[in-house]
Amino acid sequence: MATYDVIIIGAGAAGLMCAATAGYQGKRVLVLDHANKAGKKILMSGGGRCNFTNLDAGPSNFFSRNPHFCISALKRYTPHHFLELVERHGLEHVEKKPGQLFCADSAKDLLAILMTECEWAGAEIRLNTRITSLERAGEGMRVETSNGTHTAGRVVVATGGMSIPTLGATGFGYDIARQFGLEVTETYAALVPFTLTSQWKERLSPLSGLACDVSVTAGKGQYREPMLITHRGLSGPAMLQASSWWTPGQPLDIDLLPGVDAYAELLALREQHPKRQIGPWLGERLPKRLAQSLVEWQDADAGRISERSLAELSNARLEQLAKALNHWQLKPAGTEGWRTAEVTMGGVVTDAISQKDFSVRDLPQLAFIGEVLDVTGELGGYNFQWAWSSAVACGLNC
Ligand code: FDA
Repeated sequence: MATYDVIIIGAGAAGLMCAATAGYQGKRVLVLDHANKAGKKILMSGGGRCNFTNLDAGPSNFFSRNPHFCISALKRYTPHHFLELVERHGLEHVEKKPGQLFCADSAKDLLAILMTECEWAGAEIRLNTRITSLERAGEGMRVETSNGTHTAGRVVVATGGMSIPTLGATGFGYDIARQFGLEVTETYAALVPFTLTSQWKERLSPLSGLACDVSVTAGKGQYREPMLITHRGLSGPAMLQASSWWTPGQPLDIDLLPGVDAYAELLALREQHPKRQIGPWLGERLPKRLAQSLVEWQDADAGRISERSLAELSNARLEQLAKALNHWQLKPAGTEGWRTAEVTMGGVVTDAISQKDFSVRDLPQLAFIGEVLDVTGELGGYNFQWAWSSAVACGLNC
C-alpha cells in the first residue's frame, strides 16, 4: 500500500493545477483518473484553442446557491496570476473578445504547460485507474482502485461535472459527496444549445449555418451575442449563455434587431416611403435568407405582408411585426443535454466547504475543487479560471 500526502481524483484542469501547486509545497502527490488521457476537456475547449481565462473574471460571472463562496479564491489567484504562469512557459495567446484569452495555436500547448508543471513539482499521474472505494482511515483516507490501494492525508475530488460523458465525465464526485453526508444540488446541463419543437425545427433547419447578432433574454439573464442556427436548433454564444438561465417550458425572448426600435422605424418608413415593402427593409438589417423566411412566417402566422406596401399595413399590423422582430418569443423543446453541454449547473453545495482550502469543514481529509462544486461560470473563460483559482487555494493548503 503506497502512502501520499495528497491524492487527487481527476486529472482535468483543476486536478492538474492542484497537483502542481501541492507538489511545489513539498507534498507527495498522486493524481488518479479513469480516462486514458489527462485534460481531455482542455483539449476540446474553445474550439481546440482553449479560452483559458477571462481577465475580467469576478464573482458576478458565476452561478451558485452561495454567490459569495467563490470570492476569496478568485481574489487570491486571479486571471493575471494564471497569465503570468503561462507566459513564463512562453504560451502565445490571443484576446478574441475583451478579456477572453485563448491559446494562439492549440489547447495542446496549455495542457503541455500543466503537465510540465506537474512533472517539475514531482506529482505522479496515473491514468486508466478506476476508483472502487474511498473511506476514512485513521487521520487520513484510503483509496481503493483497479490498480491497488493507496492512503493519503487528504483526498481532493476534482472529477468535474456531467457534461460530455465520452470525455470521461461522471457523477462520481457527487456520489462521494453524498457518501460523506454533503448536500448536492439538482444538476442540469448549461452552456448548451437549444433543441426546437418540430414546427420551428422545420422552419429553421433550411437556415442552418446562418449566424446573426441578437439580444436574448431568458429569466433574469440577458446577453447580446451572436446566435447560430444549426440543423438541430439554436446555438452560438447568445444561446449557450441563455441556457444557463433557462428553465424548461419557458420561452426565450429574442431581439433580432438589438438596438433598433422596429416599430418606430417602420412607422417612420411608412411615412416617408408608403409604397415600399417590408422585405427590402428587413433584408438590409438581417441576413437575406433569414429576412425572407421571417416574412414568409409572418405571411403564414399573421396574414400576408409580403406583397403589400407599407401604406396597406395598419399600425396594429406593424406593431405585431415589430414585436416578432424585437421580442420573438420562442419556446425551445429542450437542450442538447450532457452530450454537448460545456458545463454542469449545480453540484456539491458549498456550505460545508472551507473557502480557504476547499476541504470539508467537518472532514478536512477530504476536499472538492473545480466544476464538481456548485459554482458555474458564464461562457468566456470563467470556468477554467474557477478551476485554477479553486485548485491553487486547495493545493497551497494541502
Ligand atoms: P474536468 O472535467 O476538466 O476534469 C475532471 C476529470 O475527472 C476528468 O479528467 C475525468 O476523466 C475525471 N473523472 C471523472 N470521473 C472520474 C472517476 N469516476 N474516476 C476517475 N476520474 C474521473 N471553460 C472555459 O473556461 N473556457 C472554454 O473555452 C471552455 N470550453 C469548453 C468546451 C467544451 C466542449 C466543454 C465540454 C467544456 C468547456 N469549458 C470551457 C468548461 C471547462 O472545460 C470545465 O469547466 C473545466 O474543465 C472543469 O475543470 P475540472 O478539473 O473541474 O473538471
